[in-house]
Amino acid sequence: ELKEHADRLIEQLGCDPIYRDYLGVLLNNEMWRESLATVPYERRLLLLPKCMRVESKCPAPFDEFGLLCKQCGLCTIQDLSAEAERLGYAVLVAEGSAVVMSIIQTGKIDAIVGVSCLSVLEQAFPYMEAAAIPGVAIPLLQDDCIDTTVDLDWVWEYIHLSSADQTRRLDLGALHEEVDFWFSPTSLALSMGTAEGETERIARDWLGRAGKRWRPFLVASAYQALRGDASGPLPEDLRKVAVAVECFHKASLIHDDIEDNDALRYGEKTLHEQHGVAVALNVGDLLIGEGYRLLASCRVSAEQRVRLLQVAADGQRQLCRGQGAELCWARHPQPLKSTEVLDIFRRKTAPAFEVALRLGALYAGVEPHDEVSDVLGRYSEALGVAYQIRDDLSDLGHSGETNDIAGLRPSLLLAVAHEKAKGATKEQLASVWRRTWPEGVTPVQVEAMYRELGAVDRAEVLLGTFKEEAIRSLHDLENHNLKGLLRRVLGKIFNDIEIKGWCKEQEVLNRAKVPAVGDAVPV
Ligand code: IPE
Ligand code: MG
Repeated sequence: ELKEHADRLIEQLGCDPIYRDYLGVLLNNEMWRESLATVPYERRLLLLPKCMRVESKCPAPFDEFGLLCKQCGLCTIQDLSAEAERLGYAVLVAEGSAVVMSIIQTGKIDAIVGVSCLSVLEQAFPYMEAAAIPGVAIPLLQDDCIDTTVDLDWVWEYIHLSSADQTRRLDLGALHEEVDFWFSPTSLALSMGTAEGETERIARDWLGRAGKRWRPFLVASAYQALRGDASGPLPEDLRKVAVAVECFHKASLIHDDIEDNDALRYGEKTLHEQHGVAVALNVGDLLIGEGYRLLASCRVSAEQRVRLLQVAADGQRQLCRGQGAELCWARHPQPLKSTEVLDIFRRKTAPAFEVALRLGALYAGVEPHDEVSDVLGRYSEALGVAYQIRDDLSDLGHSGETNDIAGLRPSLLLAVAHEKAKGATKEQLASVWRRTWPEGVTPVQVEAMYRELGAVDRAEVLLGTFKEEAIRSLHDLENHNLKGLLRRVLGKIFNDIEIKGWCKEQEVLNRAKVPAVGDAVPV
């Protein structure tokens, strides 16, 4: 039946038939999602494939039930099984239906979360059906049976799927779109009133122009997680809180562009390039005022209103201090260690995320008590650092425009490269740090040094580490809604899944079936 439905979808969507099995898995998962959510963790089985280990280095032996993980930390099997076991799951790192069947026959398992390649999943589904066991599956990102990887956010989501998390059906994509819509000119006029005079109009235009709206999205997410019933419409005043957060953010960007002397943002002229520094400074100031005005106009208890304002003021203070750390360094730029750069990232980027989450929580009527407060702080820090590292990495290849080498910003890539370099190269990179450009060295060459010295790889590893740290920060959170949602939010913000490739057999098979497809991958 899954195949029939998948075939029909392929036809309707007009997509390549090689995606049929992948679609079948997605259909199966949606079908069982709610059933899985109601099965207690202790009655579930997590099945991981042994090919996720690092084959050449994995120290684990096998017994009749599969791999006996040594927890060496080389692959993610350890993290996933430790987390699942902590929740109460039975975990097997094995392939082959015989083992799975024998576990099912014990009668102790009521649901399965399985990770595997498509071809193994195809074989496993009939067994699950025969045993009437609901199961969801996460296909590996490649099918070549060696050192395979998987979309961790996706596995994580299914492992934690529980009917205790009331937000599990919340469509984050739809929420993000709704938040985005709050910044259309008409919506902004609704929450802020009509813009009067040129200064207000410039501010309003800048607020609505572009941006990913992650901070207002975090406001809405935290609110949804903590409001109790996430199904009703979002209250009008929540928009004000979300718009306020974006006002603060956009003001900080205007000022930042002046401070960094950047000419471009969103692929267009920065505000000060367009209107001059004086006007831009003033528009930034106005937006800060607008943020506080919006918060103060929320129809909540006087006490809550005071808290909203306090949290915003505290966040702004943190942000300016963080930004200040960078600006003060920039007066006499000297080489920084990577830990120092990461610290600046933490201080200048995390506060805005934290304010957003806290304001959303406060608006939901939850005064984050110590435990939640602690978690929100740690989560925002890790998220902020990861976000800034990604920003650093995305600068690569844009030499000479708005990137960190041309501008006067501390760069993680430069810090790592400088730490790793020796001799003359180290000297050259130190000059780049000091912005006393070494003779004949171009930004493109500096980027080449980053790659050669492994700084890009290292930054990518650090990005992963901080994303994981954000997930880990949620460990002790007792509120299932907030825990589930914040975990998914991370997947949404860093939606950068890379499908690694096909196994050779599968490739040959696909070519034979559909000659024109070449290296197409199922995304
Ligand atoms: C820019 O933030 C400043 C950084 C922390 C990198 P965003 O990249 O989120 O900017 P917008 O919201 O999309 O404009
Ligand atoms: Mg800056």
